[in-house]
Amino acid sequence: MRARITGTGSYAPAKVLANADLEKMVATSDEWITERTGIRERRIAGAGEACSDLALKAAQRALEAANIGAADLDMILLATCTGDYPLPATACLIQHRLGATRAAACDLSAACCGFVYALSVADAYVRTGMRHVLVIGSEVMSAITDWTDRNTCVLFGDGAGAAVVSAVEGARGILSTHLRSDGALWELIAVPGGGSRTPLSEKVLAEKLNCLKMKGNETFKVAVRTLEEIARETLAANSLRVEDLDLYVPHQANVRILKAVADRLGLPLEKVMLNLDRYGNTSAASIPIALDEAVRQGRIKDGSIVMLGAFGAGLTWASALIRW
Ligand code: UT7
Repeated sequence: MRARITGTGSYAPAKVLANADLEKMVATSDEWITERTGIRERRIAGAGEACSDLALKAAQRALEAANIGAADLDMILLATCTGDYPLPATACLIQHRLGATRAAACDLSAACCGFVYALSVADAYVRTGMRHVLVIGSEVMSAITDWTDRNTCVLFGDGAGAAVVSAVEGARGILSTHLRSDGALWELIAVPGGGSRTPLSEKVLAEKLNCLKMKGNETFKVAVRTLEEIARETLAANSLRVEDLDLYVPHQANVRILKAVADRLGLPLEKVMLNLDRYGNTSAASIPIALDEAVRQGRIKDGSIVMLGAFGAGLTWASALIRW
């Protein structure tokens, strides 16, 4: 029995924030953002639009594509670092609103790697007896963005993507997943306030410690190294060569990172799925949004060999190899 992605869906809020809009907010320029990141615009959740609202729409589209009902789901895994509330798990809100009456539901926190980590959990559950697991990555990064910090506010966006992972016979499906972490580097990307170490206070709010801080330049270097390493490990574990890949769907953080990784691997850029110009970095949502767009654009077909690659806060990095 294998776990196969039988349907994908995604959703991005309507409001577009272009680089030109950011020029009016912080000391930046469209030229700087485009050249250094590849991002041209990002979507921002509307007032009152929360993580579960985005997730619900992506999930409904994935269920429709998989041609199953919410009541068929055994489990819902939501990868997010921007849930609706600190408690309960946002996955439970989605479970209720979807009408997934039989499903267990919980959130998974692995930042930008969350979707691939959750996919790995779904893979394990499906291969050991579950029939259908819904994996979602949904983020409202705008809620934890310091809109006065040009180092971070130009990078992130909001959105959601989802995949139905089902038990199937045959050779198609998730071939392997690979997960890593190195907590020694936790300070490279962190929201330092608002947790049990430094509970929410007036000081936390005044210093914007409830917002995401990132040492971008150091993160950049680690990202290139770890993405290359885990891609090579993934291919070796499956006795495949880079040439065997039909599409690489990486976490969409910075086009320069992805060009460097592709270059080191000897992978032509045409085989790298890129959509960060339109969405920016949507953390755990970036891979499932890119995956859904690739499927709907016909860039992924039955039998395609697809590799996912992610890195992010923790630090964590992860990959998955799929025969579609
Ligand atoms: O998904 C989570 C994982 N995160 C990432 O993958 C992010 C990885 N890092 C990056 O994508 C890049 O490091 C950044 C895009 C964040 C920054 O690019 P960089 O080429 O590493 O620039 P830098 O941090 O070395 O800064 C270069 C200069 C600095 O000015 P000085 O010190 O040289 O005078 C910055 O202050 O660019 C300045 N700068 C900006 N200028 C205009 C930083 N942000 C901006 C900005 N607009 N928005």
